[in-house]
Amino acid sequence: MISEELKQRLKEKGQFPYGKRDRAYQSIDGEPGIRDMEHRYDIIQFPKSFDGETVIDFGCSAGAICLDAKKRGAKRVVGLDYKDETIQVAKSLAKEMGLDVEFYTFNIDDGLEGLKSLIGEDKFDHVFALSIWAHCDENKLADMINFYTDKLCWFEGHNTITYGDTKSKMDLELERLLDLPYHEYIGETNDRSVRQNYKLSRSLRIELSNKNDFVYFSGEIFNTVVEANHDYKNKMPGGKHLIEKDSYQSGKYNYNGKYSCYLGDSSSDVGWKILNFDPSVTNLEDKYNNAKRIFDIQTKLSEGGFAPKPHQILKCHDSQTFYHAIEMENVKGKFVQPDEDWIESLVSYCRENGITRSGWSVRDDCVPKNCIEMDGKIYLVDIDYKWILLDA
Ligand SMILES: C[S@@+](CC[C@H](N)C(=O)[O-])C[C@H]1O[C@@H](n2cnc3c(N)ncnc32)[C@H](O)[C@@H]1O
Repeated sequence: MISEELKQRLKEKGQFPYGKRDRAYQSIDGEPGIRDMEHRYDIIQFPKSFDGETVIDFGCSAGAICLDAKKRGAKRVVGLDYKDETIQVAKSLAKEMGLDVEFYTFNIDDGLEGLKSLIGEDKFDHVFALSIWAHCDENKLADMINFYTDKLCWFEGHNTITYGDTKSKMDLELERLLDLPYHEYIGETNDRSVRQNYKLSRSLRIELSNKNDFVYFSGEIFNTVVEANHDYKNKMPGGKHLIEKDSYQSGKYNYNGKYSCYLGDSSSDVGWKILNFDPSVTNLEDKYNNAKRIFDIQTKLSEGGFAPKPHQILKCHDSQTFYHAIEMENVKGKFVQPDEDWIESLVSYCRENGITRSGWSVRDDCVPKNCIEMDGKIYLVDIDYKWILLDA
């Protein structure tokens, strides 16, 4: 709850244009605003979690975006606005709410170098530039977005009548100004006037059919040709293969497991395992550590000839959150049930190297949905977070 005194300051000093309205620009914490933040969040699919991520908002007004990102778990949040009185209100709101947000009085027209000396040069996972570009030097704003965006820039234009921000104009202008090559049009907000919204990114979107999810990822669009079937109890062992070898002939493909999904391309030597389905891990750093643990175990298993060789860990994202992907040797072949000798040698290799698996045993993982045969060799492809390296 905001104190009565602060509510009054928000109403008076959180306006835009200043002194011309009877309430603040943004609705905050139940206080009405010219803009209905809930409506905007709905349209842009404002992430439910910013766990461990970093956020910057250009022209943040009284700080609604910043405060909400912080409430949703963001690690570092920076809000900038040139109106000092509004920034003071934002700071007081953060203080009353017990949120650690960096608010700065800063004029975008002062340029990138000035901003660097104020906030440093670390990039941000999310950059917000909503209803701001007509109010400042758009080239200077573009410099800042280009410099600070690590993954996603959320962009809202202004109304069509006063500013001419039609979708077709914005498509052209955003392409001209920003070096973020991928533009996803999200839709119109209409709480005040109709405004166009975009998400801009340095990486492409990949469709993952099983959960109707998608991730942004360096690479091309992958289509699902065959979905993995989780109902393996009725099908394994010795049941129907989840993915037939023919699937690999069709170019790009993906299949989804419970805790990860795999993207491959029949013409490529590398594929990506995206670790996205562990519900207990929401913090970005924990996600990375999880990916690193899987990476290390898979490295050990590949040294023994039991798993595809992992190359590197990459960060990717969908509309809600970030994930990590392991880029790895792309094993193309048929899903098989390994014979007893192979299983025995894997089990003893794991014992010697302190590798085990919680939930069920290493042996129990040796089922066709996890094992691919390529050139007469069998690879365990689905090393997930249940695998454990004992002395790690
Ligand atoms: C239309 S409001 C948008 C506020 C917020 N981005 C939103 O969408 O809810 C524009 C905001 O940008 C700020 N602003 C305008 N020109 C600016 C500039 N040159 N540098 C920094 N902030 C500026 C204003 O003070 C105001 O808070």
